[in-house]
Amino acid sequence: MKVFITGGLGQIGSHIAELFLERGDKVHVIDNLATGRIEHLQEHKNLQITIDTIANKKLVDELFKSFQPNIVIHTAASYKDPNDWYNDTLTNCVGGSNIISASIRHNINRFIYFQTSLCYGLKPIEQPITLNHPILPATTSYSITKTSNENFLQISGLDYVTFRLANVIGPRNVAGPLPIFYQRLKDRKKCFITKSRRDFVFVKDLAKVVIKACEGYGSGTYHFSSGKDVSIKELYDEVVNSMNFEVYPEPEIREIGNDDVFSILLDPSKTFEDFGEIKFSSLEDTVSSAINYFYEYGTLGEYTHLKLKK
Ligand SMILES: NC(=O)c1ccc[n+]([C@@H]2O[C@H](COP(=O)([O-])OP(=O)(O)OC[C@H]3O[C@@H](n4cnc5c(N)ncnc54)[C@H](O)[C@@H]3O)[C@@H](O)[C@H]2O)c1
Repeated sequence: MKVFITGGLGQIGSHIAELFLERGDKVHVIDNLATGRIEHLQEHKNLQITIDTIANKKLVDELFKSFQPNIVIHTAASYKDPNDWYNDTLTNCVGGSNIISASIRHNINRFIYFQTSLCYGLKPIEQPITLNHPILPATTSYSITKTSNENFLQISGLDYVTFRLANVIGPRNVAGPLPIFYQRLKDRKKCFITKSRRDFVFVKDLAKVVIKACEGYGSGTYHFSSGKDVSIKELYDEVVNSMNFEVYPEPEIREIGNDDVFSILLDPSKTFEDFGEIKFSSLEDTVSSAINYFYEYGTLGEYTHLKLKK
């Protein structure tokens, strides 16, 4: 396969790239290093990396012309600053449409996208959230622009799979509570924990399912979810365990903010039907592999899509 991966130096993209390279496939990555890192992929004879933005239409067209991909995996996304609507739009809408348009022109076999579960709004009307839940993205710049990108895909006529994700974590994770807890605990700062719950899934478990999607499994929209959520406190405790504290660093427990969701539990039944049984890694193994990564590389900014209270 010839696989074009946007955001291939990020958490999800780099793990997928590694699996393709292990199989002997050819991979071309484009990444502007907004939240990715060059050290996330080792040099490889079948790997080409372009450090630039997918918002550059001329460049995207040239790369498709020279590489001639048959699979496109679109993981690049902007989300660092909830007030930076300009860059979210430039990457997620303009950049995303550049990648989809080039994929149509080059008649690629399959397009894989990663949508945020924030597309269901901050107060989902059901738990677990089914694929029939209304799409209500008008809560953050990130979910508005990510949803536009998914909408372009839906009208593209491409053979696509879009995975709607809740919380994918592991090594190279830069957003969400895991890197924030690690960094604050390392700096001996107090952590605060909301009374919310999430389904944390291991990035390498997702990468394996993405390979299956590229081989032809599934079609259309899926949830990538274990179907079980854990409290943020349980995640915090796993981080503390992995960091071997002698005295338990007591966190501050806070109420859920207005821009936060109590639980995001996605119904994975269609995914299990079409992709077969998925063996999910334990929270303990997932967190410890992320902490080992943070010890070596640090955390790179600890971003969140939500506005954090100071
Ligand atoms: N990790 C999760 O829990 C989660 C949840 C929902 C959706 N997603 C989606 O999954 C995808 C991958 O997420 P991730 O966790 O790997 O995030 P990530 O930040 O690690 O990876 C995103 C990559 O895109 C790159 N990028 C950003 N703007 C770019 C641009 N204009 N041109 C080229 N590259 C650009 C970044 O540098 C980074 O390497 C994203 O589309 C994200 O919206 C992730």
